[in-house]
Amino acid sequence: MELIKEIAVLESGRSAWQAMEQMINSGIQDAFFVMDVGEIVRRHHEWKLKLPSVEPFYAVKCNDSPMVLEVLNALGTGFDCASEGECAKVLAMGADPSRIIFANTVKPASHINFVAKAGVATLTFDNEEELYKIQALYPSAKLVIRIRCDASSAQCVLGMKFGVEVEDAFPLLETARALGLDVVGVSFHVGSGCSDPPVFQRAIQAARGLFDAAKRIGFEFTLLDIGGGFPGNKDSSLDNIADVVNSALKEFFPVGCGVRVIAEPGRFYVASAYTLATLIHSKRRVKNKDGTNSFMYYINDGIYGSFNCLKYDHAVVKPIPLKRSKANKEPAIGTIWGPTCDGEDQVTGPLMLPEMEIGDWFVFENMGAYTLPISCGFNGMPVPEVNAFADEKTLLELKNITTLNKKNDL
Ligand SMILES: Cc1ncc(COP(=O)(O)O)c(C=O)c1O
Repeated sequence: MELIKEIAVLESGRSAWQAMEQMINSGIQDAFFVMDVGEIVRRHHEWKLKLPSVEPFYAVKCNDSPMVLEVLNALGTGFDCASEGECAKVLAMGADPSRIIFANTVKPASHINFVAKAGVATLTFDNEEELYKIQALYPSAKLVIRIRCDASSAQCVLGMKFGVEVEDAFPLLETARALGLDVVGVSFHVGSGCSDPPVFQRAIQAARGLFDAAKRIGFEFTLLDIGGGFPGNKDSSLDNIADVVNSALKEFFPVGCGVRVIAEPGRFYVASAYTLATLIHSKRRVKNKDGTNSFMYYINDGIYGSFNCLKYDHAVVKPIPLKRSKANKEPAIGTIWGPTCDGEDQVTGPLMLPEMEIGDWFVFENMGAYTLPISCGFNGMPVPEVNAFADEKTLLELKNITTLNKKNDL
């Protein structure tokens, strides 16, 4: 993919939002995304500023679009891959295998064989059976033990499926030792969309305990992976988690201690970069018992498309009405529905909205995380296309780094 060629330039002073309005005014009928590339670049700068000692390995599962991966590749992040397919995608861009962590603790044998061949060295595990598999297929792998440390509240809990309980971690390391495997560090994931920043302190402290215990059986750990869980929406801030992480690292893994610290941010990088525009193609008036009207609006994307995030990511979405019709009617209760024939294909419950007409639009911000990779074309409904935009400053920055990368390759 020729990165820069695929990005449309925003005229000076114009925003991705204005580009979206222009597309709507041009008569487009399909639902579509605008992607603000500058947002990803700004996020990267924010990460570097606020978590300077933590190297980001972007979680590809969150949004595996070639554009996102190419931009992050140019910016020099690492990648957290969950499968052979994700590793292959990242490697095909020319990323060095050392920039990948295969961070799925349960891996099909064929995927392990693939990464062994490709030279992806770092793999996570959290159970004994996985160790036997790795010993048989890829005994020289650099292994990272994933411990469980759940946030008290998170949008998506992961601990019920992944991570060895902290009290069971040491016996697992003893097994790895007995099998002659090379364990190099500890990882955790507190839960995606974490709203309990202090959990990072508890998890980093638990990891420190395991680093020390591992030393007793001859392991010299050099890698700490603090996982994901960082917020990504426009109105969110990295500050609270960054403060906790920075002070816990200072206490338990001070600079110069010989430990490389990485993280696997997903939604942090991409959520706010994507805005989805959906057309109201149908409308139904419902007579309420008290004589008032409410309305059902049918839009051209739903839970089998981008709004799968309502089910799988437990997302809460907020429609922004974009009226094109002139008629100015009283606000009324409205519900928003997806386009398929499934009764469950509902995007929002009852909301007080300006009365909308067929041909008006609902816009949804923060739609870049855990949306597109899971979408399907159920009922023959198309998955919205993505239109990437960047301002001139962002494009220049990307151009400079891609030329630099090319020079380094020589
Ligand atoms: C292993 C792993 N790492 C990283 C992530 C990304 O998490 P987030 O989007 O919360 O940063 C996930 C998300 O499920 C994950 O499973």
